[in-house]
Amino acid sequence: MNAAAATVASLTVSLGERSYPIRIGAGLLTQPKLIVPHLTQERVAVVTNDTIAPLYLAALVDSLKRIGVRTLEIVLPDGEQYKNWQTLNHVFDALLEARCERGTALIALGGGVVGDIGGFAAAVYQRGMPFIQVPTTLLALVDSSVGGKTAINHPLGKNMIGAFYQPRLVLADIATLDTLPEREYSAGLAEIVKYGLIRDAPFLDWLEANMARLRSRDRGAIIHAVVQSCQHKAEIVGADERESGERALLNLGHTFGHAIESGLGYGTWLHGEAVAAGMVLAAELSARMGLLSSTEVERTRRLLQAAGLPTVAPRLAPERYLELMGHDKKVLAGRLRLVLLRRLGEAYVSADFSHEKLVEVLETCVADG
Ligand code: NAD
Ligand code: GLY
Repeated sequence: MNAAAATVASLTVSLGERSYPIRIGAGLLTQPKLIVPHLTQERVAVVTNDTIAPLYLAALVDSLKRIGVRTLEIVLPDGEQYKNWQTLNHVFDALLEARCERGTALIALGGGVVGDIGGFAAAVYQRGMPFIQVPTTLLALVDSSVGGKTAINHPLGKNMIGAFYQPRLVLADIATLDTLPEREYSAGLAEIVKYGLIRDAPFLDWLEANMARLRSRDRGAIIHAVVQSCQHKAEIVGADERESGERALLNLGHTFGHAIESGLGYGTWLHGEAVAAGMVLAAELSARMGLLSSTEVERTRRLLQAAGLPTVAPRLAPERYLELMGHDKKVLAGRLRLVLLRRLGEAYVSADFSHEKLVEVLETCVADG
């Protein structure tokens, strides 16, 4: 298959000289000609994990080798619990031992965890090396591979150590979704629903009508959802790369979600699952503030349920939630800010919510004790 036949959409993240394409299609992994224009030397380090390596590493590496690109393979242990300093150091060790240079490109082949660690390594190795994202989960395809947020977790907070560092290319091969486990696939649907909730009511309608097709992995439905999502992400990042405004809306449900993830221990709930339950809590709080109707909250819950996601957050003491939520990057001058819904399809960020109502939500809208 030639590159033109494999690519079904090409979008751009517009950031002046640092603009880059998102190429979306099936079978792109073995189209090295899409990658080569973004390299500055004929050498790449591919960072992946021990689940993805047996599935896709050889296909990517062999196709690059065939056209004369030398490759270094760095295989990390799989799991959110490894998104830490130790794993990052392992990447640095491997790059240094193989004498990778500043001009060597780093390709992250995997989901959000590999992308976030690989991107952070690329941002700081010799003060920055070219970086390419090859996402292989639905979540990474529609969210984490686009926009240049890179990070590792700290025991005191999720994604607390990181950098903004844009890739030069996002090569989104939707054929990799064929092997993605059901639970991980649903986790990606959470971030897709998020775009509808924060800025696209018609897309929300489409998702309600097409969730069954998406769940059955209908290629046409996947392409539509991925293209719409990447378009939203590209627009938002192009307008607000460093999250001084609109980009914060992408965190709908995340302040609650990050508290769930770290409160239960990284890797217990998947990121997308925690975000789904977090978006319901955000909707519940919005309703208590007189913004959303109970019907709209129910619509949100039903759509996430149809996506195969949990919609009831786990019970933690409200004080524990508040403590964990306080380690959020949106905290400004010590004040917690949350993304709330003005209506379905329109979100805003605010520190102006009632603390009592938040505590009420954390007490009454979580799982039975
Ligand atoms: P993940 O990277 O842990 O991948 C999920 C699981 O699927 C892993 O076990 C992985 O090995 C496996 N896998 C990946 N691709 C596969 C495939 N094609 N076939 C079979 N198995 C496959 O999880 P994720 O949901 O992709 O990413 C979550 C992470 O992304 C979190 O750490 C979150 O903080 C981060 N994130 C970052 C951003 C950002 O903007 N940088 C945005 C959202 C989420
Ligand atoms: N996933 C949130 C962001 O990229 O800003």
